[in-house]
Amino acid sequence: MASKEILLLVLCWGFVVLATTSFGANVTYDHRAVVIGGKRRVLISGSIHYPRSTPEMWPDLIQKSKDGGLDVIETYVFWNLHEPVRNQYNFEGRYDLVKFVKLVAEAGLYAHLRIGPYVCAEWNFGGFPLWLHFIPGIQFRTDNEPFKAEMQRFTAKIVDMMKQEKLYASQGGPIILSQIENEYGNIDSAYGAAGKSYIKWAAGMALSLDTGVPWVMCQQSDAPDPIINTCNGFYCDQFTPNSNNKPKMWTENWSGWFLSFGGAVPYRPVEDLAFAVARFFQRGGTFQNYYMYHGGTNFDRTSGGPFISTSYDYDAPLDEYGLIRQPKWGHLKDLHKAIKLCEAALVATDPTYPSLGPNLEATVYKTGSGLCSAFLANIGTNSDVTVKFNGNSYLLPAWSVSILPDCKNVVFNTAKINSVTLVPSFSRQSLQVAADSSDAIGSGWSYINEPVGISKDDAFTKPGLLEQINTTADQSDYLWYSLSTNIKADEPLLEDGSKTVLHVQSLGHALHAFINGKLVGSGYGSSSNAKVTVDFPIALAPGKNTFDLLSLTVGLQNYGAFYEKTGAGITGPVQLKGSGNGTNIDLSSQQWTYQTGLKGEELNFPSGSSTQWDSKSTLPKLQPLVWYKTTFDAPAGSEPVAIDFTGMGKGEAWVNGQSIGRYWPTYVSQNGGCTDSCNYRGAYSSNKCLKNCGKPSQSLYHVPRSWLKSSGNTLVLFEEIGGDPTKISFVTKQLGSSLCSHVTDSHPLPVDMWGSDSKIQRKPGPVLSLECPNPNQVISSIKFASFGTPLGTCGSFSRGRCSSARSLSVVRQACVGSKSCIIGVSVNTFGDPCKGVMKSLAVEASCT
Ligand code: GAL
Repeated sequence: MASKEILLLVLCWGFVVLATTSFGANVTYDHRAVVIGGKRRVLISGSIHYPRSTPEMWPDLIQKSKDGGLDVIETYVFWNLHEPVRNQYNFEGRYDLVKFVKLVAEAGLYAHLRIGPYVCAEWNFGGFPLWLHFIPGIQFRTDNEPFKAEMQRFTAKIVDMMKQEKLYASQGGPIILSQIENEYGNIDSAYGAAGKSYIKWAAGMALSLDTGVPWVMCQQSDAPDPIINTCNGFYCDQFTPNSNNKPKMWTENWSGWFLSFGGAVPYRPVEDLAFAVARFFQRGGTFQNYYMYHGGTNFDRTSGGPFISTSYDYDAPLDEYGLIRQPKWGHLKDLHKAIKLCEAALVATDPTYPSLGPNLEATVYKTGSGLCSAFLANIGTNSDVTVKFNGNSYLLPAWSVSILPDCKNVVFNTAKINSVTLVPSFSRQSLQVAADSSDAIGSGWSYINEPVGISKDDAFTKPGLLEQINTTADQSDYLWYSLSTNIKADEPLLEDGSKTVLHVQSLGHALHAFINGKLVGSGYGSSSNAKVTVDFPIALAPGKNTFDLLSLTVGLQNYGAFYEKTGAGITGPVQLKGSGNGTNIDLSSQQWTYQTGLKGEELNFPSGSSTQWDSKSTLPKLQPLVWYKTTFDAPAGSEPVAIDFTGMGKGEAWVNGQSIGRYWPTYVSQNGGCTDSCNYRGAYSSNKCLKNCGKPSQSLYHVPRSWLKSSGNTLVLFEEIGGDPTKISFVTKQLGSSLCSHVTDSHPLPVDMWGSDSKIQRKPGPVLSLECPNPNQVISSIKFASFGTPLGTCGSFSRGRCSSARSLSVVRQACVGSKSCIIGVSVNTFGDPCKGVMKSLAVEASCT
């Protein structure tokens, strides 16, 4: 391409100006769309849950969402954070909902407030505070007076708060929608008639709060008017609302999936995600929300499940740390622009469906006033097809949608990625422990042993085995079950010597068994089955023997009918079995002594301030039940920080007194079923695309920058099983300086290059465009360039059979020394290295 042409293209480079949100608007709806201030809108939304990041991160997350083309930020409201004790509220720090909503408004975006107050969300107990469970006569999520009274009180409290701050759109604020309940329709049949009347009540209660904006219920086909029933899922193009007066809305488009301890890491290819979104708008949708746009982190003990990991990355367009994930973020940004180019036609009319052929679908939005936008879909999973539409030919790759804002030119195809790939890089550094000669043998660490068994004054004794959640009220993950029993010298069990077995059955989620003070074994459930059954070989001695069973939860159940009744803990039986002689002593109904929580929790070791820290004797390693503490300097720079807990077993960690969550690097995912290059064609499901098989489900744990000082930070760990804290290292994550793009000669022109109005310029052919991620960088070198049939992916591109000899020099000339560059992907630019063959251009460049 001649440099003049490049210049022209650069001049055409126009950013679609986002329609600024005009507040003080009435929000209504009709069968085509949500109507804001009298205007029907196509709205792109994304979920960011405020407690899964920090207030310091919020502005950046919201700005990156806006830059990615979102109009709306959606969040749940987390009751158990805001009302940890009945009538005692907390809206500070990460829980500052008002601040979060105000930041959304300041960025010029709308908000969707999903109050629930049941939220599911892989959140502890589905978002309900534990005290709710202990209200006499209560039954959750059904026609039950005590429950309804509490649900109404909390919902009204949140609505009042928003009203007082004038945050509803009707008052000039950003909130255009609210949700009541959450996916109740998925489980309501289990509640029978009471479920039906509960939903009617919930609808009426919500409406009575008079927010001035519409309410939605998701996955609720019988949502009473005027509440809008909406769809959640990987695809919602086939969904229709329960009345022709309601718009077709998608409240949860799962951008990936959540991770469990013991599971592999799920990801969702962006070609499929974009396909799902385009299909939804093609078939009449007008509001679509990514769940999640930023997933974030389950700090503290907020994760539910059980067994949900601390990372809630979700393969979202913004990664756990808030960094842009490419090419996902960029490809969706392009998609949003393409959809917005169609907005005027989409909201003005109902579509028609001219026939294209099997597995193909054309949809046309044509208005009397001359607007015309079209979507062409190939929903076949195998073959690319060339179709004729309005007299022109279009190549439709399998499982893709092309978007034609003028019914003629393709500005976007879901399977053709124009945006660049940036490979994130990690820098590792060992923990910079503050030099202090008093640390345990120069290791930089001090420690305290957590006693095995009962050590607190509030322990109590009861006959039989107790259910855990009813005993601890989730004040702690931990519950000790302790028993001392006398084994007579003539007990037949002893004849077996070492062949005695301790048999323990637990409802979950994990347990550590100590006999006479020594750990004899551990057992864990999994996200698919929380229950634990263990048989540990043990050696008993005649006389007194002590059994100390430490049972623990890993986040409480958050989903399912009657989920609040799901129990945990060692409900038995607990038996001693002689393997040879058939003897069996059942300990289940003996007098057990119980202790909720750890001594160290009671003494607030997480703060690091106790006087008991031992820094004189040898640091215990690979021993169970140890508190560790060190002081460290923050890694230099401003990049996001994580701790790599490789070397540790399982526990919880605190930085400067703030819990960064449960760590469990020894829980390794299954060996098979992973692929790094999942075929995006065909229906996605949560276990279709997995990576990281056979490795720890999670070894990196986010430490928000704002929790760190440059030096003198305290790190406290509680290790349950055994680990070596001196192996811990810090990792910082940044977007690498290498960027890649791979564009075929059948790609559409980048959507950025189309005008923001409906006047679409003539198509000059596909281009590859590169831009350095940081404004102060320039493209310093071209590591790879090949026009022809290049192979591989970013970082490992190689030349194929056919490659233009001019590839490298053309790309170098166009790009090196510039912040960004644009190269025509055609024989005009490179000459034709192989006639009659479909060609592409792959480039990997470096920015410095
Ligand atoms: C939905 C639920 C969300 C979340 C999601 C899975 O069913 O509404 O809260 O749990 O599943 O991530």
